[in-house]
Amino acid sequence: MGKIFDYLDSRFVLKKPHKSFLERDLPANVNYFYCFGGITFILFLLLLSTGLMLSTYYVPSEKEAYQSIKFIDNKVYFGGVIRAVHKWSANLMVVCIVIHMLRVFVTGSYKKPRELNWVAGSVLLILTLGFGFTGYLLPWDQKAYWATVVGTSMAGTVPLIGKYLLILLRGGFDVNGITLLRFYSFHVLWLPLISLVFLWAHFHMIRQQGISGGL
Ligand code: HEM
Repeated sequence: MGKIFDYLDSRFVLKKPHKSFLERDLPANVNYFYCFGGITFILFLLLLSTGLMLSTYYVPSEKEAYQSIKFIDNKVYFGGVIRAVHKWSANLMVVCIVIHMLRVFVTGSYKKPRELNWVAGSVLLILTLGFGFTGYLLPWDQKAYWATVVGTSMAGTVPLIGKYLLILLRGGFDVNGITLLRFYSFHVLWLPLISLVFLWAHFHMIRQQGISGGL
């Protein structure tokens, strides 16, 4: 491995960026709870890769969505496993993001100069919940359909903007094929792209400010 690394290093100059990327000082009092931001990120990457695989077979249309999910489960090699990994990672990501947020809160790491990073993190939390909400409809079964009817109706009760929010989410007044396509577009394009921007901002600020000394 060392020889391969040296070979590549003499051609691409890997050591320098590799060093500045991995060799950073940490405060003395960090503990395992400081790993949860990283674990959340690993789960995000796992979701991205399994999501890409699922998108190869999933069909976001009123007539075919449910059948395509059945096809993934029963006919595609490891389809059921990939789907299960996607689903479990999504649930675990919410658990880990909450633990990460609690760690940041309890250690007071949201204070100056990290307030903006707390805001960026809050946006990431909303985006993560958005992934869950939009992904839930995609199997297009009874549970998914009625959960979305209820969820979007709740959005419709927001004062002043509720009506517009409901139309934005449903693509009209009813939950139908247009809603499915819309949720799919949010789930696989809009939310991932916006998340990448905020993840970059989050990590950039961590790099600039370092990990806080905490308690
Ligand atoms: C996709 C979601 C998120 C990812 C991947 C992520 C990732 C990370 C990572 C890797 C760190 C380095 C330290 C650690 O792991 O504890 C960190 C630090 C931080 N995160 Fe997050 N985070 C996310 C969401 C959030 C949320 C929801 C908040 C708060 C609302 C937040 C606020 C912060 C702050 C303020 C720091 C700096 C803490 C310090 O310097 O001690 N993050 N994040």
